[in-house]
Amino acid sequence: MSNETRKILVTSALPYANGPIHIGHLVEYIQTDIWVRFQKQRGHTCHYVCADDAHGTPIMLRAQQEGITPEQLIADTWTQHHADFQDFNVGFDNFYTTHSDETRDFAELIYNRLYDQQYIHSKTITQAYDPVKEMFLPDRFIKGECPKCGAADQYGDNCEVCGATYSPTDLVNPVSAISGEKPIDKESEHYFFKLGDFEAMLKEWTHSGHLQEQVANKLSEWFEVGLQDWDISRDAPYFGFEIPNAPGKFFYVWLDAPVGYMGSFKNLCDKENLDFDEYWAKDSTTELYHFIGKDIVYFHALFWPAMLTGAGFRTPTAIFSHGFLTVNGEKMSKSRGTFIKARTYLDHLNPEYLRYYFAAKLSGRVEDIDLNFEDFSQRVNTDLVNKVVNIASRCSGFINKRFNGQLSSSCSEAELFQSFVAESDPIAALYESREYGKAMRAISTLADKANQYIDEKQPWVVAKQDNCDDELHAICSVGINLFYLLASYLKPVVPEMVSKAERFLNTGELPWPDQLAPLTDHTIHKFKPLMTRVDTDKLAALIEASKENLEKTPDASQKKAPQKTTDDLAGTIEFDDFAKVDLRVALIEKAEHVEEADKLLRLTLSLGDEKRQVLAGIKSAYSPAELEGRLTVMVANLKPRKMRFGVSEGMVLAAGPGGNELWILSPDSGAKPGMRIK
Ligand code: 2FM
Ligand code: ZN
Repeated sequence: MSNETRKILVTSALPYANGPIHIGHLVEYIQTDIWVRFQKQRGHTCHYVCADDAHGTPIMLRAQQEGITPEQLIADTWTQHHADFQDFNVGFDNFYTTHSDETRDFAELIYNRLYDQQYIHSKTITQAYDPVKEMFLPDRFIKGECPKCGAADQYGDNCEVCGATYSPTDLVNPVSAISGEKPIDKESEHYFFKLGDFEAMLKEWTHSGHLQEQVANKLSEWFEVGLQDWDISRDAPYFGFEIPNAPGKFFYVWLDAPVGYMGSFKNLCDKENLDFDEYWAKDSTTELYHFIGKDIVYFHALFWPAMLTGAGFRTPTAIFSHGFLTVNGEKMSKSRGTFIKARTYLDHLNPEYLRYYFAAKLSGRVEDIDLNFEDFSQRVNTDLVNKVVNIASRCSGFINKRFNGQLSSSCSEAELFQSFVAESDPIAALYESREYGKAMRAISTLADKANQYIDEKQPWVVAKQDNCDDELHAICSVGINLFYLLASYLKPVVPEMVSKAERFLNTGELPWPDQLAPLTDHTIHKFKPLMTRVDTDKLAALIEASKENLEKTPDASQKKAPQKTTDDLAGTIEFDDFAKVDLRVALIEKAEHVEEADKLLRLTLSLGDEKRQVLAGIKSAYSPAELEGRLTVMVANLKPRKMRFGVSEGMVLAAGPGGNELWILSPDSGAKPGMRIK
């Protein structure tokens, strides 16, 4: 490997801004962070940027559901994501958002350049449309019966019951998952990126060392099927960037997501006075790497290099894909308590356990990895605590008590020390190629060697002998020096533990071991435990708390019918049933008589950024003028009902026997339209 300083820009995929970080996500951030820390430790210039992926329909709808603006939702999520990453020691140089001026500018620039060269064309397409919600429906927002097995309530394009895959148009009795209404077909003009124009370039690029072999092979299959034009526009309402010169049309979230890599880096450049073009210009000689999951290869290995090339930017040096995480051999599951949020984990266990465990399991291939809790405890306890940390604790006591914290004036085992240093190139090559599992095994072998040395020399026996101070001093100093090298090798993986080791060793930041010479005549500090063993009670509590998460936070996407209990018979309902009702504060903007209807008033309700029309049977109790401007409470997710006098999109809550004895419910002052009632 060349010793020259490299200039490297690294990204991890941008997490969506509408959900928490969980341990499945963390595989990638930890994998990338280890790589970045390794590069920095080797003395290279390495910038690591990321951002929240803030646009798209699910984010827009989630915000509506929560009664807040999308801007508020993405700001809140950013704060949580940022804290989670920080607490897992994921050391981004910049964690930004795609909802930024920088990302907008680059998205527009790239689009305009592609447009000017006729890589964009428009055509009219027909799509499912929700007539009540007045929006086009992405596939995942259409539900219906499975065309194969007839299972009810199946989303988008695959059946969770029989596993069949299909297109949403095949669903039997499709309904909008948002309003419950039957979607209609509606035409709209869309903008397309002509991916096929880049076929030659992509065939060459994807087979010239930028991708893992497995990924390149997969791409060959896609080339055989043929490259389709890519639909890059979405109609309003949409939370995103409006397309230049195309009012009411927005960039599809996946157009601006990778541009978010540039946006985040530009933001960093402005803060730290870095040269953006040095990393992104067509003739750039720096390195650019994207770490991603195997599910988003198509976007990164085809669309992205094509967009960059078309717009006159450089392409990535490499794209590193990883597999998914299973827990105890199965998909993460909320009911089993294995769908573990980053924050729940942090509330119970040391993040560096997970960093080490993932490192021990990761390779440079696109393979799924399994988190097995027994294996997790055992590896952390055996390989890290017993083998590595114990070396320091075994030797430091004597150094501190008998030698005033001072290491011996020469290293009595220079060869042994050098044999550890000699592994620095092979171990570096393993880190570089993301073969972290192999790197951890190589480091563990060195730790075995160090322990073997101490076991053979038996300092605890020597300590009891007369006139053996020099020997004891030499043995323990060697032990500390071997620990010093092990800590340096492990620094990318467990930075916090190593930072404590650096304080204990009194060294300052450890460089890569090829830069290290034995510490001699050097004073170390008193040893404090660097890492404790995994507490199995805490591990069990983590799993239990992850189960609780499910009960406390009912997830609308849970599709299993709740079990009938005897309580059902007594007329009570499950909490889950109650939680399905979306109660909101609503402002009655307008109230009018419905001609020919005896009991109904037509109310126009505002939920903040959304309006609803509700036909309410309160005419005998209220005149329209009494109601306008008042706040009330409504059921916001009631399936719209077609009535003789129009569609009613919800229900306002009122109490009383009826007739003129009816009172609509009002929240206390301070409540705002759209707020969710909890
Ligand atoms: O799949 C996802 O979670 C996307 N939010 C990843 C985007 S990566 C990049 F393109 F921005
Ligand atoms: Zn089915």
